[in-house]
Amino acid sequence: MSNKTWSRLGFRANPYSTDPLTVREEDVELLLGRLDEQVDFQTAIESETNGTLILSGVPGVGKTSFLNVQQYLLETGKADFGRKILSARQLCVVHPHDEPMNIALSAVEALCKSVQEYCNIWGLSIPSETKKTLQWIRQERGSSFSIGLTVYGHGGNIGREVQIPSIDSISFNGLVDIIESISSEVVTQLDFEGCFIVLDNIENLEDDELRDNLLSFRDTLFTIDNVWWVIIGQSGLSGLIRTQEEKVFQRITFDQELLPIEVKDLIKAVDKRVDKFHDGEYEGTSPIPQEIYTMLFESSNGEIRFVFKYCQEVCLRVVTDARKLVMSQGFGVADDIFDKVMGQVLVENQISESKVYEHLKNIVVDEIRSLNLKDVEVGVLKKIGELEKVKPSDWQEFESIEDFDATSSQTFSHNYLVVLQNKSLLLKRRAGSIVTYQLRGVALLALKFNLL
Ligand SMILES: Nc1ncnc2c1ncn2[C@@H]1O[C@H](COP(=O)(O)OP(=O)(O)O)[C@@H](O)[C@H]1O
Ligand SMILES: [Mg+2]
Repeated sequence: MSNKTWSRLGFRANPYSTDPLTVREEDVELLLGRLDEQVDFQTAIESETNGTLILSGVPGVGKTSFLNVQQYLLETGKADFGRKILSARQLCVVHPHDEPMNIALSAVEALCKSVQEYCNIWGLSIPSETKKTLQWIRQERGSSFSIGLTVYGHGGNIGREVQIPSIDSISFNGLVDIIESISSEVVTQLDFEGCFIVLDNIENLEDDELRDNLLSFRDTLFTIDNVWWVIIGQSGLSGLIRTQEEKVFQRITFDQELLPIEVKDLIKAVDKRVDKFHDGEYEGTSPIPQEIYTMLFESSNGEIRFVFKYCQEVCLRVVTDARKLVMSQGFGVADDIFDKVMGQVLVENQISESKVYEHLKNIVVDEIRSLNLKDVEVGVLKKIGELEKVKPSDWQEFESIEDFDATSSQTFSHNYLVVLQNKSLLLKRRAGSIVTYQLRGVALLALKFNLL
């Protein structure tokens, strides 16, 4: 439901927005239930001058949001512990099959853009080495545009000059030179103690690709002074790195698995958002009853994004239904009174629980239908639901399902588990080298509503 619709209902912004919290003052109070993690994170930053941090957790649990709020606090010096670090306002998002060189280049670009955004916010001119690098990175493939950069020494003295070749002939060491130059500029010109560079969604890489990447980064990019790398990925990421490559694991300064926040904190989070974003003259409560959104939270492995997505969707259906009803009575809908009453119903009386269930059920039916699942896939989902958690080696449990087509762990994984995971119906978890799958999101609701 768009911000326009919300504003017609008396909300300045969507209280169930699924966007991650960002690096800014207003978002700090919207982060709830992460105090312990906050102390751990800030202390890790305080104890070293550079490092590689891992943030892991299931999708939608709040990794990006947590990091952004920490970044804001550290950048502004409002953190209780830690040091003053420039935020990564641009994250380097990792895509399937990205090569180390591509990731490293987009990390450089993200760093430059983060410096640029910071300067824009505070009306500062963009420092020279960052500016040159931005031009360098925008050169067309095949061009031979090279640049000279300065790496500043301590106290802002000229440390050394480095020559950067064109983008087509750049090496990892060349990229190290660039990042050293920019980070030294962030320290000497912008007065920070370092900068963040964030690799987000690293779970998009296959296991062996992840290993290749981290091995390439380990002795080059991960050792640069004043640079804090944050790697965000799936639950169990640090265990995976440890079993894959002890050498890389030793380089990790700190790792944190973000578990779901507690239900009481989710309730506070929703109340806060309604309070903050609702500007009608009457006091607002959550349009979606607490019983429902906590049920969504508990039945989704703590994926806040999932909870908010369904709350939004239900609100949209309630509004659409009401509009249709009013229209069918021959009244005009584009009418302030209608919006006002509708908004009041949403935040005052709340939509009734049974009505919300009805809408939810319809949403789940529609979504499952739109996935065009084969009967055998539905059968597999149902069985996984009954078993709660399965490993690829459990394939024999599924043999009684009609048309089931797998005769080994590999084929079970390939034909079903990965397919259903890619449709966001299964959650993959790992503990070291052990991988398990369980129902996720809409599949869990479908099971709950007996729709499988
Ligand atoms: N601690 C928290 N308190 C309140 N809301 C949160 C919290 N963490 C995340 N959210 C909200 O949950 C949703 C998903 O968060 P996000 O950071 O994108 O998750 P992830 O990066 O783990 O996939 C967003 O709408 C975000 O605003
Ligand atoms: Mg994220």
